[in-house]
Amino acid sequence: MATIRRDIGAGHYFIFDDTLVSHPNEDMFSSHFWQLQNKVTGQAKGRGTTIFIQHEQQQWVLRHYKRGGMIGKLLSDQYFFVGVEHSRAFKEFRLLSLMQRQGLRVPVPVAARVHRRGLIYRADLITQNIPYSRDLHHMLCEAPLSNDDWSNVGKALAAMHNCQVYHHDANIRNIMMDNNRHIWLIDFDRCEVRSGESWKQSNLDRLLRSLRKEKEKNTTFHWEFAQWQYFLSGYKGAINAPS
Ligand SMILES: Nc1ncnc2c1ncn2[C@@H]1O[C@H](COP(=O)(O)OP(=O)(O)O)[C@@H](O)[C@H]1O
Ligand SMILES: [Mg+2]
Repeated sequence: MATIRRDIGAGHYFIFDDTLVSHPNEDMFSSHFWQLQNKVTGQAKGRGTTIFIQHEQQQWVLRHYKRGGMIGKLLSDQYFFVGVEHSRAFKEFRLLSLMQRQGLRVPVPVAARVHRRGLIYRADLITQNIPYSRDLHHMLCEAPLSNDDWSNVGKALAAMHNCQVYHHDANIRNIMMDNNRHIWLIDFDRCEVRSGESWKQSNLDRLLRSLRKEKEKNTTFHWEFAQWQYFLSGYKGAINAPS
């Protein structure tokens, strides 16, 4: 892949993989545009708005960056501009390509755009859809994972940590499984490469908290604390000991 950055003036910036997209434009990042062409195949409602697109043999996932919480109610999709390389979309795009180059199972970044107006910007990201995948929250509402699956989830987190990547929101909804039972990690907004080891445990704590919370919230949620040990043994077996 070759990453190209193109600044087209008037506050418009694109970053894209030129083997997947030749000419990025504003329309590509508009859900309305895709709806008019009947190319939207689904949507996911998380913090942001995510739509699934079928376009010329490609399956894309388009996410508009949105804020959560109190500030989100006022400034739902606006961020303070301090340079395009510091934008949420460009950082996530570059981190995904770095992880992809290291062989991690993460979404392939296709293109991102930033639109600046004065002091603020809005941003969007397109990734390739992970074929035949579902997030673990969905899966656990239906059936338990095997001990081997849990061990593989641990291995996936360890592989990410071996690349020194910190996940800002390592919850069960940001882990996917495909039809070959391979584990994929998603949603790298505000994630980053960090040095040291001490932050790694906080990602594991976050995941355990999210499992406990979902177990309380959902009447059927097929997860027991006893299975956490299989996650941990997968993780510990795969994590590089710090030198
Ligand atoms: N590349 C992808 N392939 C398949 N599904 C995806 C992909 N990216 C996101 N999704 C789905 O969309 C949901 C929301 O995307 P996510 O990146 O987690 O955004 P957020 O949680 O900020 O709304 C995910 O939980 C997942 O179900
Ligand atoms: Mg998410």
